[in-house]
Amino acid sequence: VRGAVITGWGAFLPEKVVTNADLEKTMDTNDEWIRERTGIHERHVGGSTSELSIQSGRAALEMAGVDPSEIDALILATTTPDRHVPATASSVQLGLGLSCGASDLNAACSGWVYGLVNAHGLIAMGARKVLVIGTDTLDRITDYTDRNTGILFGNGSGAAVFEAVEGPGQLLGWDLDSIGEAESALYCEIGGTLEMEGREVFRRAVRIMVDSGNKSMEAAGVSPDDIKLVIPHQANIRIISAAMERIGIPEEKAMVNLHRTGNTSAASVPMALAEALDEGRVDPGDLILFVGFGAGMTAASAVVRW
Ligand code: ACO
Repeated sequence: VRGAVITGWGAFLPEKVVTNADLEKTMDTNDEWIRERTGIHERHVGGSTSELSIQSGRAALEMAGVDPSEIDALILATTTPDRHVPATASSVQLGLGLSCGASDLNAACSGWVYGLVNAHGLIAMGARKVLVIGTDTLDRITDYTDRNTGILFGNGSGAAVFEAVEGPGQLLGWDLDSIGEAESALYCEIGGTLEMEGREVFRRAVRIMVDSGNKSMEAAGVSPDDIKLVIPHQANIRIISAAMERIGIPEEKAMVNLHRTGNTSAASVPMALAEALDEGRVDPGDLILFVGFGAGMTAASAVVRW
Protein backbone atom coordinates (compact mmCIF):
# COMPACT_ATOMS: atom_id res chain seq x y z
CA VAL A 1 0.00 0.00 0.00
CA ARG A 2 1.17 3.47 -0.83
CA GLY A 3 -0.47 6.28 1.14
CA ALA A 4 -0.01 10.02 1.55
CA VAL A 5 0.58 12.47 4.37
CA ILE A 6 0.28 16.25 4.49
CA THR A 7 3.71 17.72 5.18
CA GLY A 8 3.14 21.45 4.66
CA TRP A 9 0.30 23.92 4.48
CA GLY A 10 -0.33 27.59 3.88
CA ALA A 11 -3.11 30.17 3.62
CA PHE A 12 -3.30 33.62 2.11
CA LEU A 13 -5.88 36.40 2.27
CA PRO A 14 -5.61 39.57 0.19
CA GLU A 15 -5.06 42.69 2.28
CA LYS A 16 -8.25 44.64 1.59
CA VAL A 17 -11.06 44.00 4.11
CA VAL A 18 -14.75 44.73 3.51
CA THR A 19 -16.76 44.86 6.74
CA ASN A 20 -20.49 44.48 7.11
CA ALA A 21 -20.60 48.22 7.82
CA ASP A 22 -18.98 48.86 4.42
CA LEU A 23 -21.71 46.78 2.74
CA GLU A 24 -24.43 48.86 4.41
CA LYS A 25 -23.31 51.68 2.11
CA THR A 26 -23.97 49.78 -1.14
CA MET A 27 -27.01 47.64 -0.31
CA ASP A 28 -30.07 47.52 1.93
CA THR A 29 -28.61 45.42 4.73
CA ASN A 30 -27.12 45.81 8.19
CA ASP A 31 -24.36 44.37 10.34
CA GLU A 32 -26.71 42.79 12.87
CA TRP A 33 -28.69 40.89 10.19
CA ILE A 34 -25.54 39.58 8.51
CA ARG A 35 -23.98 38.43 11.81
CA GLU A 36 -27.15 36.72 13.01
CA ARG A 37 -28.09 35.04 9.74
CA THR A 38 -24.61 34.08 8.53
CA GLY A 39 -21.99 34.58 11.29
CA ILE A 40 -19.89 36.68 8.91
CA HIS A 41 -18.29 39.93 10.19
CA GLU A 42 -15.90 40.73 7.36
CA ARG A 43 -14.34 39.31 4.19
CA HIS A 44 -11.24 40.03 2.09
CA VAL A 45 -11.30 41.15 -1.55
CA GLY A 46 -8.78 41.80 -4.32
CA GLY A 47 -6.03 39.90 -6.09
CA SER A 48 -6.25 37.38 -8.91
CA THR A 49 -6.65 33.63 -8.49
CA SER A 50 -3.09 32.98 -9.67
CA GLU A 51 -1.60 35.66 -7.39
CA LEU A 52 -3.31 34.33 -4.28
CA SER A 53 -2.48 30.72 -5.23
CA ILE A 54 1.21 31.49 -5.62
CA GLN A 55 1.27 32.95 -2.09
CA SER A 56 -0.42 30.03 -0.33
CA GLY A 57 1.36 27.46 -2.51
CA ARG A 58 4.78 28.94 -1.73
CA ALA A 59 4.04 28.93 2.00
CA ALA A 60 3.03 25.24 1.85
CA LEU A 61 6.17 24.28 -0.13
CA GLU A 62 8.43 26.18 2.28
CA MET A 63 6.84 24.59 5.30
CA ALA A 64 7.19 21.10 3.80
CA GLY A 65 10.81 21.88 2.91
CA VAL A 66 10.07 20.70 -0.63
CA ASP A 67 11.90 22.14 -3.63
CA PRO A 68 9.50 23.16 -6.46
CA SER A 69 11.29 20.71 -8.79
CA GLU A 70 10.16 17.79 -6.58
CA ILE A 71 6.41 18.35 -7.13
CA ASP A 72 4.91 15.78 -9.52
CA ALA A 73 1.47 17.37 -9.95
CA LEU A 74 -0.33 20.62 -9.20
CA ILE A 75 -4.10 20.57 -8.72
CA LEU A 76 -5.72 24.02 -8.45
CA ALA A 77 -9.32 23.92 -7.25
CA THR A 78 -11.14 27.05 -8.33
CA THR A 79 -14.44 28.32 -9.75
CA THR A 80 -12.95 31.69 -10.60
CA PRO A 81 -10.06 31.08 -13.01
CA ASP A 82 -8.15 34.12 -14.28
CA ARG A 83 -9.08 33.21 -17.89
CA HIS A 84 -11.04 30.52 -19.73
CA VAL A 85 -7.82 29.22 -21.33
CA PRO A 86 -5.23 28.24 -20.29
CA ALA A 87 -5.93 26.81 -16.86
CA THR A 88 -4.92 29.16 -14.04
CA ALA A 89 -2.75 26.31 -12.79
CA SER A 90 -0.40 27.09 -15.70
CA SER A 91 0.23 30.59 -14.31
CA VAL A 92 0.66 29.19 -10.81
CA GLN A 93 3.11 26.57 -12.07
CA LEU A 94 5.17 29.32 -13.68
CA GLY A 95 4.99 31.54 -10.60
CA LEU A 96 6.10 28.76 -8.25
CA GLY A 97 8.77 27.39 -10.59
CA LEU A 98 7.22 23.91 -10.77
CA SER A 99 8.00 21.50 -13.59
CA CYS A 100 5.07 19.09 -13.41
CA GLY A 101 1.55 18.42 -14.63
CA ALA A 102 -0.78 21.29 -13.74
CA SER A 103 -4.53 21.60 -14.15
CA ASP A 104 -7.60 23.29 -12.67
CA LEU A 105 -10.40 21.41 -10.94
CA ASN A 106 -13.87 22.95 -10.65
CA ALA A 107 -16.19 21.43 -8.07
CA ALA A 108 -17.19 24.83 -6.61
CA CYS A 109 -16.72 25.02 -2.82
CA SER A 110 -16.04 21.27 -2.58
CA GLY A 111 -13.08 21.62 -4.94
CA TRP A 112 -10.17 21.37 -2.52
CA VAL A 113 -11.58 18.23 -0.90
CA TYR A 114 -12.01 16.74 -4.41
CA GLY A 115 -8.35 17.69 -4.90
CA LEU A 116 -7.34 15.95 -1.67
CA VAL A 117 -8.96 12.72 -2.88
CA ASN A 118 -7.43 13.06 -6.37
CA ALA A 119 -3.98 13.68 -4.87
CA HIS A 120 -4.22 10.41 -2.95
CA GLY A 121 -5.17 8.65 -6.20
CA LEU A 122 -2.13 10.07 -8.01
CA ILE A 123 0.13 9.08 -5.13
CA ALA A 124 -1.31 5.54 -5.06
CA MET A 125 -0.36 5.35 -8.76
CA GLY A 126 3.22 6.48 -8.21
CA ALA A 127 3.37 10.28 -7.79
CA ARG A 128 5.64 11.26 -4.90
CA LYS A 129 4.64 14.84 -4.08
CA VAL A 130 1.42 16.63 -5.05
CA LEU A 131 0.51 20.25 -4.35
CA VAL A 132 -3.24 20.92 -3.94
CA ILE A 133 -4.33 24.55 -3.83
CA GLY A 134 -7.86 25.90 -3.35
CA THR A 135 -8.39 29.51 -4.39
CA ASP A 136 -11.33 31.71 -5.26
CA THR A 137 -11.69 35.37 -6.10
CA LEU A 138 -15.44 35.56 -5.81
CA ASP A 139 -15.43 39.37 -5.73
CA ARG A 140 -15.11 39.13 -9.54
CA ILE A 141 -18.47 37.37 -9.93
CA THR A 142 -20.37 38.92 -7.01
CA ASP A 143 -22.95 41.66 -7.52
CA TYR A 144 -22.37 44.05 -4.59
CA THR A 145 -25.77 45.64 -5.06
CA ASP A 146 -27.55 42.27 -4.50
CA ARG A 147 -28.03 41.72 -0.77
CA ASN A 148 -29.03 38.11 -1.38
CA THR A 149 -25.47 37.17 -2.39
CA GLY A 150 -23.26 40.25 -1.90
CA ILE A 151 -22.91 39.76 1.87
CA LEU A 152 -21.65 36.19 1.72
CA PHE A 153 -18.50 35.89 -0.35
CA GLY A 154 -14.81 36.74 -0.04
CA ASN A 155 -11.43 35.94 -1.62
CA GLY A 156 -8.75 33.64 -0.28
CA SER A 157 -6.39 30.76 -0.92
CA GLY A 158 -5.21 27.67 0.95
CA ALA A 159 -2.75 24.94 0.00
CA ALA A 160 -1.22 21.68 1.19
CA VAL A 161 1.64 19.43 0.10
CA PHE A 162 0.84 15.69 0.01
CA GLU A 163 3.79 13.27 0.11
CA ALA A 164 3.92 9.53 -0.52
CA VAL A 165 4.69 7.15 2.34
CA GLU A 166 5.01 3.38 2.49
CA GLY A 167 1.90 2.08 4.25
CA PRO A 168 -1.66 3.36 4.49
CA GLY A 169 -0.97 7.09 5.07
CA GLN A 170 -3.50 9.50 6.58
CA LEU A 171 -6.64 8.92 4.48
CA LEU A 172 -9.04 6.43 6.06
CA GLY A 173 -12.23 7.09 4.10
CA TRP A 174 -13.60 9.47 1.48
CA ASP A 175 -16.70 10.36 -0.50
CA LEU A 176 -17.37 12.49 -3.58
CA ASP A 177 -20.94 13.47 -4.47
CA SER A 178 -22.85 15.59 -6.93
CA ILE A 179 -26.57 16.27 -7.35
CA GLY A 180 -27.01 17.67 -10.85
CA GLU A 181 -30.73 18.25 -10.37
CA ALA A 182 -29.85 21.04 -7.91
CA GLU A 183 -27.52 22.89 -10.28
CA SER A 184 -29.97 25.77 -10.80
CA ALA A 185 -29.96 26.59 -7.05
CA LEU A 186 -26.62 28.36 -7.41
CA TYR A 187 -24.93 29.33 -10.66
CA CYS A 188 -23.02 32.00 -12.54
CA GLU A 189 -23.28 32.21 -16.34
CA ILE A 190 -20.11 32.99 -18.31
CA GLY A 191 -19.55 36.73 -17.90
CA GLY A 192 -22.34 37.02 -15.31
CA THR A 193 -22.67 37.21 -11.54
CA LEU A 194 -23.71 34.63 -8.94
CA GLU A 195 -27.43 33.83 -8.75
CA MET A 196 -28.70 31.86 -5.79
CA GLU A 197 -31.84 30.50 -4.18
CA GLY A 198 -30.56 30.95 -0.64
CA ARG A 199 -33.10 28.83 1.24
CA GLU A 200 -32.88 25.98 -1.27
CA VAL A 201 -29.07 25.97 -1.06
CA PHE A 202 -29.26 26.05 2.74
CA ARG A 203 -31.66 23.12 2.93
CA ARG A 204 -29.77 20.96 0.48
CA ALA A 205 -26.37 21.93 1.91
CA VAL A 206 -27.16 20.54 5.35
CA ARG A 207 -28.47 17.28 3.89
CA ILE A 208 -25.61 16.71 1.44
CA MET A 209 -22.96 17.51 4.08
CA VAL A 210 -24.46 15.04 6.52
CA ASP A 211 -24.87 12.32 3.85
CA SER A 212 -21.34 12.74 2.59
CA GLY A 213 -19.78 12.95 6.06
CA ASN A 214 -21.59 9.78 7.10
CA LYS A 215 -20.39 7.94 3.99
CA SER A 216 -16.77 8.90 4.73
CA MET A 217 -17.03 7.84 8.36
CA GLU A 218 -18.59 4.54 7.31
CA ALA A 219 -15.85 3.95 4.73
CA ALA A 220 -13.25 4.69 7.42
CA GLY A 221 -14.99 2.41 9.93
CA VAL A 222 -15.23 5.18 12.53
CA SER A 223 -18.13 6.74 14.45
CA PRO A 224 -18.94 10.42 15.12
CA ASP A 225 -17.54 10.02 18.66
CA ASP A 226 -14.12 9.20 17.21
CA ILE A 227 -13.82 12.51 15.33
CA LYS A 228 -11.64 15.12 17.07
CA LEU A 229 -12.09 18.00 14.62
CA VAL A 230 -14.45 18.74 11.74
CA ILE A 231 -13.28 21.08 9.00
CA PRO A 232 -16.48 22.08 7.21
CA HIS A 233 -16.89 24.42 4.26
CA GLN A 234 -17.26 27.90 5.72
CA ALA A 235 -20.50 29.18 4.15
CA ASN A 236 -22.82 30.06 7.01
CA ILE A 237 -22.56 29.36 10.75
CA ARG A 238 -26.18 28.17 10.78
CA ILE A 239 -25.45 25.59 8.06
CA ILE A 240 -22.47 24.32 10.10
CA SER A 241 -24.55 24.17 13.32
CA ALA A 242 -27.41 22.28 11.66
CA ALA A 243 -25.05 19.81 9.95
CA MET A 244 -23.09 19.14 13.15
CA GLU A 245 -26.27 18.48 15.08
CA ARG A 246 -27.59 16.04 12.47
CA ILE A 247 -24.31 14.23 12.07
CA GLY A 248 -24.06 13.83 15.85
CA ILE A 249 -20.82 15.68 16.58
CA PRO A 250 -20.75 18.55 19.15
CA GLU A 251 -20.50 21.94 17.45
CA GLU A 252 -17.36 22.87 19.45
CA LYS A 253 -15.53 20.26 17.38
CA ALA A 254 -16.09 22.25 14.18
CA MET A 255 -13.35 24.61 13.02
CA VAL A 256 -14.99 27.97 12.27
CA ASN A 257 -13.27 31.05 10.88
CA LEU A 258 -15.94 32.36 8.53
CA HIS A 259 -16.53 35.45 10.70
CA ARG A 260 -13.22 36.80 9.35
CA THR A 261 -13.26 35.34 5.82
CA GLY A 262 -16.84 35.01 4.57
CA ASN A 263 -17.45 32.19 2.11
CA THR A 264 -14.23 31.78 0.13
CA SER A 265 -15.47 28.76 -1.85
CA ALA A 266 -12.63 26.36 -2.76
CA ALA A 267 -10.26 28.17 -0.37
CA SER A 268 -12.37 27.76 2.74
CA VAL A 269 -11.47 24.20 3.78
CA PRO A 270 -7.66 24.43 3.26
CA MET A 271 -7.57 27.85 4.97
CA ALA A 272 -9.54 26.49 7.95
CA LEU A 273 -7.18 23.48 8.06
CA ALA A 274 -4.11 25.73 8.08
CA GLU A 275 -5.55 27.84 10.87
CA ALA A 276 -6.53 24.80 12.97
CA LEU A 277 -3.05 23.30 12.59
CA ASP A 278 -1.31 26.63 13.33
CA GLU A 279 -3.44 26.99 16.47
CA GLY A 280 -2.39 23.52 17.65
CA ARG A 281 -5.93 22.14 17.56
CA VAL A 282 -4.74 18.82 16.12
CA ASP A 283 -2.48 16.27 17.84
CA PRO A 284 -0.85 13.24 16.21
CA GLY A 285 -3.37 10.41 15.90
CA ASP A 286 -6.44 12.71 15.92
CA LEU A 287 -9.17 12.03 13.38
CA ILE A 288 -10.19 14.97 11.18
CA LEU A 289 -13.41 14.96 9.14
CA PHE A 290 -13.32 17.29 6.13
CA VAL A 291 -16.73 18.17 4.65
CA GLY A 292 -17.21 20.45 1.69
CA PHE A 293 -20.34 21.31 -0.29
CA GLY A 294 -20.99 23.75 -3.08
CA ALA A 295 -22.67 24.66 -6.33
CA GLY A 296 -23.55 21.70 -8.50
CA MET A 297 -24.54 20.77 -5.96
CA THR A 298 -21.36 18.97 -5.08
CA ALA A 299 -20.16 17.52 -1.80
CA ALA A 300 -16.88 15.94 -0.79
CA SER A 301 -15.65 14.58 2.50
CA ALA A 302 -12.72 12.66 3.93
CA VAL A 303 -11.62 11.16 7.23
CA VAL A 304 -7.92 11.66 7.89
CA ARG A 305 -5.81 10.36 10.79
CA TRP A 306 -3.29 13.10 11.63
N1 ACO B 1 -29.85 42.06 4.75
C1 ACO B 1 -31.00 42.30 5.39
N2 ACO B 1 -32.14 41.61 5.17
C2 ACO B 1 -32.08 40.61 4.29
C3 ACO B 1 -30.90 40.27 3.59
C4 ACO B 1 -29.76 41.06 3.85
N3 ACO B 1 -28.57 40.84 3.25
N4 ACO B 1 -31.15 39.23 2.78
C5 ACO B 1 -32.42 38.91 2.95
N5 ACO B 1 -33.00 39.73 3.87
C6 ACO B 1 -34.37 39.69 4.37
C7 ACO B 1 -35.31 39.01 3.39
O1 ACO B 1 -35.83 39.95 2.47
C8 ACO B 1 -36.37 38.46 4.31
O2 ACO B 1 -37.26 39.48 4.68
P1 ACO B 1 -38.85 39.21 4.85
O3 ACO B 1 -38.93 38.20 5.97
O4 ACO B 1 -39.39 40.55 5.15
O5 ACO B 1 -39.25 38.63 3.52
C9 ACO B 1 -35.61 38.07 5.57
O6 ACO B 1 -34.40 38.85 5.52
C10 ACO B 1 -35.27 36.60 5.62
O7 ACO B 1 -34.73 36.19 4.35
P2 ACO B 1 -34.30 34.70 4.04
O8 ACO B 1 -33.86 34.62 2.62
O9 ACO B 1 -35.36 33.78 4.53
O10 ACO B 1 -33.05 34.59 5.00
P3 ACO B 1 -32.26 33.29 5.43
O11 ACO B 1 -32.35 33.15 6.87
O12 ACO B 1 -32.59 32.14 4.55
O13 ACO B 1 -30.77 33.73 5.10
C11 ACO B 1 -29.06 33.32 3.47
C12 ACO B 1 -30.38 34.01 3.77
C13 ACO B 1 -28.01 33.88 4.43
C14 ACO B 1 -28.66 33.62 2.05
C15 ACO B 1 -29.22 31.80 3.72
O14 ACO B 1 -30.34 31.33 3.01
C16 ACO B 1 -28.01 31.02 3.29
O15 ACO B 1 -26.94 31.13 3.86
N6 ACO B 1 -28.16 30.14 2.27
C17 ACO B 1 -27.06 29.35 1.78
C18 ACO B 1 -26.18 30.22 0.91
C19 ACO B 1 -24.85 29.59 0.63
O16 ACO B 1 -24.23 29.03 1.50
N7 ACO B 1 -24.40 29.73 -0.61
C20 ACO B 1 -23.11 29.33 -0.98
C21 ACO B 1 -23.04 27.86 -1.29
S1 ACO B 1 -21.41 27.38 -1.57
C22 ACO B 1 -20.82 27.80 -3.13
O17 ACO B 1 -20.57 26.93 -3.92
C23 ACO B 1 -20.55 29.24 -3.49
